[in-house]
Amino acid sequence: MITLKWNTGFQNGIAEEEIQRSWQTLWQRNGAGSDFLGWLDPEVIASEAILSEVEKVADRLKKQSQCVVVAGIGGSYLGARAIIEALQPMFPDENAVRIIYAGNHLSEDYLAEMLAYLDGVDYSIVVISKSGTTTETAVSFRLLLQHCQQKYGVEQASSRIVCVTDKCKGALKKMADQNGYTSFVLPDEVGGRYSVLTPVGLLPIALAGINIRELVRGAVEMKREIREMGLAHQAVQYAAFRNTLWRKGITMEVLAAFEPRLQYFIEWWKQLYGESEGKEGKGVFPAGVVYTTDLHSLGQFMQEGNRIMMETFLYVQNPSHTCKVPAMEDDSDQLNYLQGRRINEINQKAYQGTVLAHEDGGVPSLTLEIERLDAFHLGQLVYFFEFACGLSGYLLGVNPFNQPGVEAYKKNMFTLLGKKGYETGRDALLSRISSKK
Ligand code: PA5
Repeated sequence: MITLKWNTGFQNGIAEEEIQRSWQTLWQRNGAGSDFLGWLDPEVIASEAILSEVEKVADRLKKQSQCVVVAGIGGSYLGARAIIEALQPMFPDENAVRIIYAGNHLSEDYLAEMLAYLDGVDYSIVVISKSGTTTETAVSFRLLLQHCQQKYGVEQASSRIVCVTDKCKGALKKMADQNGYTSFVLPDEVGGRYSVLTPVGLLPIALAGINIRELVRGAVEMKREIREMGLAHQAVQYAAFRNTLWRKGITMEVLAAFEPRLQYFIEWWKQLYGESEGKEGKGVFPAGVVYTTDLHSLGQFMQEGNRIMMETFLYVQNPSHTCKVPAMEDDSDQLNYLQGRRINEINQKAYQGTVLAHEDGGVPSLTLEIERLDAFHLGQLVYFFEFACGLSGYLLGVNPFNQPGVEAYKKNMFTLLGKKGYETGRDALLSRISSKK
């Protein structure tokens, strides 16, 4: 179960008719970006046929690999990593298939060290790109492909490569068809950042040994809950909370977890809200922290810095393990007052203390309490945030399903690299760069 708790009291400042309108726009699929609402139906995008095929391919790859490289960026990467890091053991068995990532940056050192590591292990590659032309992913895949073919030969390499891409267009689709790579389709009606419950997320997650059926069941259950409760649902309240505060001049939301394994879930959430809302000069900037770690760094700012933020706590009620503070005869570290108490109790008191301290510091906040971290609850949370994001974007008055701004850096990069078709304006860019020296 996921429960929303108001920590600082909340007075909804958005008229019910306005919320009702955004709700209708979403469900009736007649608003901006409505071609990209396939994620509203997890039971369709993750049908039985897709789940079985994903599991079959994951089993095959696992049998032949000590490591699987997942190559993708943004929406073609973060959802999988969010779920995998939240659920896989933090100190995995050395015989478990290791998932590593590529294609999500352009670090030469990382890629060189990764290839050196792959010399010594049996591996497979899952390359994920809807467009099939994203530079970071395509460059990494070219390196991986060459390495894999040199290591295993062209034919065996082909059986170690799986693509997730568009159903008919793009360079990756063409390569998959030409070389007979197993491939999965990223449906047209699902954008990258909403794609975790398609093979984009499901295949890497299944490779990590996580139960993808439970993940999807959680999402389907959250959809049912939202449909049944309508505007009274907590996802709607969350969307209203952030829009009410945005209208009062609060321009940042900090998602704060008390579990380090949720770090990449926060990264996924940052992309979801950042790309969906940050346009036309609008939007709440999504930031994230992992406490208690960040209470020793950003905690100062949260308590006393510029009052521009609201805070959403993610709190997991039940850990999966038990670990208690041991006794020490001479109490030299002065911790015997905690002797015999669970670490989780200390974490809980840190959480409660933080909520109260930040309330005193003037930060409006709410908490999403998650019963436990498992595939089902994460599936619920994914759908909760996706739905709230679509609704929140419509309340903000933007198209929550496009990302026109991400093209600007690419255009400059292509011009500077001399890509065909991007010649115009090269001199102007070069002179702007040299003027900065
Ligand atoms: O959410 C998005 O649309 C983006 O983050 C894309 O997923 C990301 O840029 C990767 O694109 P592609 O899958 O085409 O390689």
